[in-house]
Amino acid sequence: MTRILAIESSCDETAVAITEDGKLLANVVATQISVHEKFGGVMPEIASRLHTENITVCLTQALEESKLSLEDIDAFAVTRGPGLIGCLHVGLQAAKTLAMLYNKPLIPVHHLAGHIYANEYVGELQFPLLCVVVSGGNTEFVIMRDHMDFEIIGETKDDAVGECYDKVARVLGFPYPGGLPIDQHAKLGEHTYPLPVPASPDGKYDVSYSGLKTSVINLVHSLEMKKEPVRVNDMARSFQDVAIGMIVDRAMEAAHEYHVKQVILAGGVSANSYLRSEVKKHLEGTGIDLIIPPLWCTTDNAAMIAKVAEKLYERKVFAPLTLGVDPNWRIDHWAEFGDSGKPEVK
Ligand code: KG4
Repeated sequence: MTRILAIESSCDETAVAITEDGKLLANVVATQISVHEKFGGVMPEIASRLHTENITVCLTQALEESKLSLEDIDAFAVTRGPGLIGCLHVGLQAAKTLAMLYNKPLIPVHHLAGHIYANEYVGELQFPLLCVVVSGGNTEFVIMRDHMDFEIIGETKDDAVGECYDKVARVLGFPYPGGLPIDQHAKLGEHTYPLPVPASPDGKYDVSYSGLKTSVINLVHSLEMKKEPVRVNDMARSFQDVAIGMIVDRAMEAAHEYHVKQVILAGGVSANSYLRSEVKKHLEGTGIDLIIPPLWCTTDNAAMIAKVAEKLYERKVFAPLTLGVDPNWRIDHWAEFGDSGKPEVK
């Protein structure tokens, strides 16, 4: 029997989960959204401090829910990156302390691998698969030919799609995080504002969001200067059509080119209702399977970190206690975390 305690603190959610042979025994998430809402975005320094305050509370609650004690845990897993450096440090220090105290392995987990493996809570991964990773900090198209085998075939060359949603939401007067309000208002509007569809900036599957973001901001400001009303629902719809359209186009082309058996969605923006329905619609009748993560898995949590940790525990991918965080860790370098930069698979 293997029991894993996983910690997630890469952005504005402090989370602790405990699994026993893959079964989720506890999944505690303390979100800081109400604090950051006032600033219209995550304030990194405040986020780190709140993680420090919340981590032991989450830990205690997770142990209570699982009816286990720290002595029962076989390995301590933690998100090592990507994310906000100060936030990552809090989770890593907690995990390292526990691993040292209880003399158990420390498992470093890539945050986006976590979002991808969250899908295992609802279905079995079938390879080769295409994973559409869309979050507040990342936008990537990833091909997986096997477990823990990630090839990035395309990514954003500037802003992440979620970041773009949040900036556009701010100019439209919606609260942070702006993805859900835009999604809701877009349903009430029509695509009446002409917005440019960015061309592939580099590689075939790359995307770009900064031009789209600037176009919406400029359009809103010029309407305000002319004292013309901004039709918020129509603007949300016009923006969403372009922002999500880009992802769906690239995803469908890649799914066919790479002959995938399955498409999976991952990350905060995978909660988007238009993205979910468009991908589903386009895959109908193609024979390609689709997993859409449950909504609770689209936001940050530690259950998804535990899922990856199970795979790493089997392979004995453990880190030394000198481990540091990596705010820019690439998913295709998930096994590189030693001083030498070489995989440290023991
Ligand atoms: O995965 P996540 O927590 O970010 C990172 O860890 O980087 O995702 C948060 C992002 C935010 O930008 C939020 O606005 C966006 O996901 N989001 C959405 C929706 N719900 C959340 N974007 C579009 N439509 C939604 N329904």
